[in-house]
Amino acid sequence: MTEKVTVTVLAKMKAEGAKITMLTAYDYPFARMVDECGVDMILVGDSLGMVVQGESSTLPVTMDQMIYHTTLVARAAKRAMVVGDMPFMSYQVSVTEAVKNAGRFIKEAGAAAVKLEGGSAVADRIKAISQCGIPVQAHIGLTPQSVHQMGGYKVQRQEDKLMEDARIVEEAGAFSVVFEGIPFEIAEKITNSISIPTIGIGAGVHCDGQVLVLHDMLGINEGHVPKFAKRYVQLAQEARKGISQYVEEVQGGSFPTREHSFK
Ligand code: KIV
Repeated sequence: MTEKVTVTVLAKMKAEGAKITMLTAYDYPFARMVDECGVDMILVGDSLGMVVQGESSTLPVTMDQMIYHTTLVARAAKRAMVVGDMPFMSYQVSVTEAVKNAGRFIKEAGAAAVKLEGGSAVADRIKAISQCGIPVQAHIGLTPQSVHQMGGYKVQRQEDKLMEDARIVEEAGAFSVVFEGIPFEIAEKITNSISIPTIGIGAGVHCDGQVLVLHDMLGINEGHVPKFAKRYVQLAQEARKGISQYVEEVQGGSFPTREHSFK
């Protein structure tokens, strides 16, 4: 097996200008594929609320659901670093709650790091969790857990605020930061001004790495797909073809054949 991806490996990749890859996964078979294809980090994102559970936002996702899905992913990941995404209200209430819930991702689910949304507002959480020896990935820009406060899923353009948030999360001890939905020129400036790896989603090509939601890039999610989510395959279409053929064959009596039967 090639070297397990750790915070040290990721820091070295940034230093050497090697691009970092990250994808979400929520279950064992997809996590295994993602890991075997050489993706560096697997994010068990709270996006599962939308792409797996069919919710209209990430807000209803619970800690117990995140622990369950992270366990499945961690079981499959041999090389990639598994990052557990802290769901809405698992870290906002208090520093103590944040530390306790971050610890569950490591102790119960087998994650190697956690991610939480917010910049300066959550710096004390990032610091406390990091001080327990748990690597923290910050997430700034468009933060979906604040959808109501942002007035929708909108590109965030306040350069000074983004720059300050990035600097503060680095200072608080984050090992990496996700930039979501920010103009590429701002992402480039910040990437060049902080020393931790920046991972972009809708933040342009100049970030140190990229992340996408697996169900968007594989064409499993047939609902709204944001502009930044390139579809690499159309798995839902393929799945529909297979399922429809099965229905036809069972109804028409051409499945199962002798090949699929026992004597
Ligand atoms: O939940 C998630 O999948 C995420 C990514 C979009 C970064 O936070």
